[in-house]
Amino acid sequence: MGTAPDTELRLVEATVGDRKIRLGWSDGHRVDVEPLWLRDNCPCPECLHPSTRERTFDILSVPPDLLPERISIESDGALRVEWGGVPHSSRYEAADLRGYGAPDLSGTAFPVIWDGRLAGSEPRFAYADLESEAGARAWLSALRDYGFALIEGAPPVEGEVLRLAARMGPPRPTNFGVVFDVVSKPDPNNNAYTAIKLNPHTDLPNWERQPDFQFLFCIANEAQGGASTLVDGFAVAERLRDEDPEAFDALARTPLPFRFHDGEADIRFRAPAIGLWPDGSLREIRCNLAILARIDAPGEDMARLYRAHRRFVELTRLPDLQLNFRLQAGELLAFDNLRLLHGREAFDPASGFRHLQGVYVDREHLYSRLRVLRPAAE
Ligand code: OGA
Ligand code: ZN
Repeated sequence: MGTAPDTELRLVEATVGDRKIRLGWSDGHRVDVEPLWLRDNCPCPECLHPSTRERTFDILSVPPDLLPERISIESDGALRVEWGGVPHSSRYEAADLRGYGAPDLSGTAFPVIWDGRLAGSEPRFAYADLESEAGARAWLSALRDYGFALIEGAPPVEGEVLRLAARMGPPRPTNFGVVFDVVSKPDPNNNAYTAIKLNPHTDLPNWERQPDFQFLFCIANEAQGGASTLVDGFAVAERLRDEDPEAFDALARTPLPFRFHDGEADIRFRAPAIGLWPDGSLREIRCNLAILARIDAPGEDMARLYRAHRRFVELTRLPDLQLNFRLQAGELLAFDNLRLLHGREAFDPASGFRHLQGVYVDREHLYSRLRVLRPAAE
């Protein structure tokens, strides 16, 4: 026996008492509802624009102590409320009210935290897979849950990265442009544009909003060296929280200064290395020694911060937390830049050509696409 489908839910109780509206459903669930909440969520076309689906009702148009004049249950189990003052009649489906007070967590990420043992089972997709809705959904779901996914077999040409990124959403330009070319160049303004090793890092922690998702597309990888590294920064942070809660705390509470500057830009932001949601869960990692500015903590905080940050960075270098692989021409590595750290081995530009193109995309597009794509067949 499963639970009854929502459509069969009926209201069986609706009473006004003690400034609340007591509702009871046919499945036994009972709850006391704020009258203002009910008025605010009237679904009629006068209160909710039928085309924009946005609210047109103004909460200031009713008094703060609003109460219904009359409430009743209709023959199909829906709720009818007659409001006084500016008279208004509202009807609410029984199932629509059932989630009162509970957060809607549909489409929220529940990260699958990983370490080096994921090697060999990385989420990997074929370019052709993206054509179908099921394929696109599987790819986007992997990005949401693992924080990264590989796509192989795309045409290894300039600009392809933009077409691939567009399957999630429009690009987010930065001071490095809409599309950035990762090649060893003369007079580089970024360590990525050299041939040196890049230790695991997040991109652009010097921005208030670090780019959420990064798409790194490999056009050529013929040089010796240049293999890629990924680390789950949430795994690193959780390991630190386990082994040294004080260090975790220092990194979660103390802002670090980050700064990028060249001839055209001077972009700075201060934020903790470990960003938390209000409930204490992990929100974002900021880690990039190349653009960490002079740490400016007062007194003993300096020593504490150096110790904590050093340990965090040390953990990002542990082989057992890392994935190492070599990008092939036509391969896309897309990843969550707020969660994962990425790096590369040094390469020898004299031994062959290496060219990646990168694009950033905001996270909202990922969740939105996943919600809009038809749900998977059961
Ligand atoms: C970057 C970067 C990695 C690579 O461009 O931000 O980290 O493999 N590149 O070159
Ligand atoms: Zn980078």
